[in-house]
Formats: sequence, C-alpha cells, structure tokens
Amino acid sequence: MSKALEGVKILDMTHVQSGPTCTQLLAWFGADVIKVERPGVGDATRGQLQDIPNVDSLYFTMLNSNKRSLTLNTKSDEGKAIFTKLIEHCDVMVENFAPGALDRMGFNWERIQEINPRMIYASVKGFGPGPYEGCKVYENVAQCTGGAASTTGEIDSVPLVTGAQIGDSGTGLHLALGIVTALFHRSHSGKGQRVTCAMQDGVLNLCRVKLRDQQRLEHGPLTEYPQYPNGTFGEATPRAGNASGGGQPGWIVKCKGWETDPDAYIYVITQAAAFDGLAKAIGHEDWLEDPDWNTPKARLPRLEEMFDEIEKWTKTKSKFEVMDILNPLNVPCGPILSMKELAEEPSLRETGTIVEVDHPERGKYLTVGNPVKLSDSPADVDRSPLLGEHTDEILKEIGLSVAEIESSKSAGAV
Ligand code: COA
Repeated sequence: MSKALEGVKILDMTHVQSGPTCTQLLAWFGADVIKVERPGVGDATRGQLQDIPNVDSLYFTMLNSNKRSLTLNTKSDEGKAIFTKLIEHCDVMVENFAPGALDRMGFNWERIQEINPRMIYASVKGFGPGPYEGCKVYENVAQCTGGAASTTGEIDSVPLVTGAQIGDSGTGLHLALGIVTALFHRSHSGKGQRVTCAMQDGVLNLCRVKLRDQQRLEHGPLTEYPQYPNGTFGEATPRAGNASGGGQPGWIVKCKGWETDPDAYIYVITQAAAFDGLAKAIGHEDWLEDPDWNTPKARLPRLEEMFDEIEKWTKTKSKFEVMDILNPLNVPCGPILSMKELAEEPSLRETGTIVEVDHPERGKYLTVGNPVKLSDSPADVDRSPLLGEHTDEILKEIGLSVAEIESSKSAGAV
C-alpha cells in the first residue's frame, strides 16, 4: 500500500497553528514536508506552553508530526540562494506569515512563478482583500470576526469563543483542500497556482447555518431558538445557548453526579422520528396522546419544559447509562466527554485517532492522528522533528556539496 501523497514535496514555511495543521495533514498522507525554520530560533511554538523545560512543547510536537526540519535564514543572501533551490525542488509552498512577509524577503508570487511555474503557493492570512487585509490574526480574533463568537454563548450574556480551533486548524484544513485541488488541476494543466484562505472566511464557512438564520430572521422569529416564544429577537442572529443548530431540537441536560463532575452531562436531540421512544423512556407516555405535545410544532413553544422533564430522568442515570438506554431507541444523543476520557478511550486508540508517539527528548506523548481514513493508503503518525534535524540531508538532496553546506553554516545562513 502506498501513501496517497507520496512524491509530493512541500516547502513548509508555516508557524504557530493554522499553517502547520495544513502541512501536518499533507505529511500524514505521505507528502515530504520540509519545514523551514529560522536558525537557532525555529517555530515560536517550540518554546511556548512548555511542560518540560527546554524540550519542544506539546503545542509544537502535536502540530508538526511526520515533517523534516531545515534551518535557513531566508533573509541572508546565501539563505535566499538556497531558498531559490528549494522552490525549484518542491511542488507546493505553504506559509502563514503576517501579510507581506514573504514579499519583503523578495519572494512574491511573480518571482516564485519565474523560479518554478509548476509551484503551488498556498497562504493563510487573517483576512482577504479589504479593510483588514494587513492585520495580524490569531485564533480568537478569527472566531470573533468570522461570526462564531457573536452566535456562541448563553442568551443575554457575553459572546464566547469555542475550544475547537476553528480559526487556526479549521483554516488549515480548508487550505489543505485547496492545495490538493490545485495539485489535481496541475496534473492536467501543467501549471501551478496561488491558493489563499483567509481565517475570517474559513470561520464564516463553518458558521454558514448562522447566516442562514440571519436571513430567516427577516421572515419571523427563529422558532427553534430558546428566545421563542417568550423572549425577543434583535436584528442579528442571536446566541442560542446549547440549542441545536438544525431542525431537530436539542439541549445539554444534567446526568447523575453533575453536582461534583463538571462533565456529567449529555446532549439529547428530540428527533421527531424517535420522540415516542424517548417520551416512553422518561415516563411521559401521556405526551403521545396530548395535542400539546404530540407533534414537533406543538412542542416548539414548550422546549424548555420538555428538556426540564428529560433532565429529571437523566439526573437519575450516568451519562453512559443514558446512552445505553436511548441509543437502542434511535434517539440521537452524546455524552459530554472530557479530554481525559477521550485520551483513555480504547476505540480511538485502535483507529489511530489518538496515537502515542515516542520523542527523543520528551519521551512518549499523545497526539491526535489523522481523522481522515483512506482504505488503501496508510497515514502513520511519526514524531515531530528537532530543530534543524534534517538540514544536512535536505541540503544534499537539493545538490549542495559538503563544502557548500559547511560554508553556509559558517555564514550563519543555515
Ligand atoms: N528566516 C528569516 N526570517 C524569517 C524566517 C526565516 N526562516 N521565518 C520567518 N522570518 C521572519 C519573517 O519574514 C518576518 O519578518 P518581517 O516582519 O521583517 O517581514 C518575521 O520573521 C516574523 O514573522 P511574522 O509572521 O510577522 O510573525 P509574528 O510572530 O510577528 O506574527 C502571526 C505571528 C501569526 C500573528 C502572523 O504570522 C499572522 O498574522 N499570520 C497570518 C495569519 C495566521 O496564520 N494566524 C494564525 C496563526 S496560528
């Protein structure tokens, strides 16, 4: 079995999270990812949030698996000459510097095309063309400017950011799709192209149901939102607590032990097709004959009361007991799983979604493996590289002699 992207060479100029997520995904699929880092410094995340002193942080190691590291000062003359060779050698260049950084080094899109017309040049930026295109952006800025924060949180409370890194990792995923699409296009056009993804756009794409609701709002209240029927709606899609974003009402309810366990909760969706079984399970057979309860429309004004009744029952059981009872009844539901529970879940270890990796300096650590499984192409997870671990080997591959490598080193270019 061969790896799906075997033979594709990626010049990885990414740092922090959004770009590294993209190139890690391509590396898992078998691309040769050459991570270019500043000599002696490297990706800033190597040293951020360190749990073990002077050892690459989990922040870095969990975003840079399966890559090779080359140190190179792309601002020095020798460094620029080597960088030019790397552009000739690779199929794809990926970067997520602040706007204009690569242009300032002398490598704008026109120059890159001159060096290698087959090169696919992919970038993450905070914003697309417009008033904010020159701004630096981190995860939570993207969540706030892409529509996620204004639509997340409790009703009548402050906007909230989510733990899921939809701005960084989400945009990295979008970019990876753009890259493989451009590679496919190149296979018949013979030409590279520019691929860009703005974090604001990536977040907005993930929030499209909220733009749906914005337009529905012009035609009346959003009947599945907790504000209906007694609260008020303003001009924009409001925050909706834990209400389901779809046409089937859902909510998070307490389970046995919630007083002391912060994760003793379950999400229950009262899908119309499974409502009879759910009503019977919680001891509300009476709802089935009652016109106030026995249709989805009749239940809409009483969703709060309905979830209170469901919660009276779930509070008598653990979240896993609730799953065991409701799943055979086809009621969609899911326990709130803590990171500890996920890390220890045997089925996630078996599928390679949670992987234990060995690192020469930190020892064993857990990482999230490739969530996308291909039936014929393995995606094994290897450790992240040490800073500059593959410098000599990569420089030899692009044609530098031992003497040239030594002279680049003494000039401080690598
Ligand atoms: N050799 C020489 N110089 C290098 C280098 C190398 N190998 N790698 C990076 N540099 C330089 C850059 O050219 C830049 O120099 P310049 O400012 O003189 O042009 C400098 O290092 C810093 O890069 P920058 O991207 O500005 O880093 P930052 O730490 O100031 O900003 C971000 C970090 C994430 C805010 C910014 O990169 C950004 O907005 N990126 C786009 C959006 C994004 O991806 N954000 C999410 C990150 S998870």
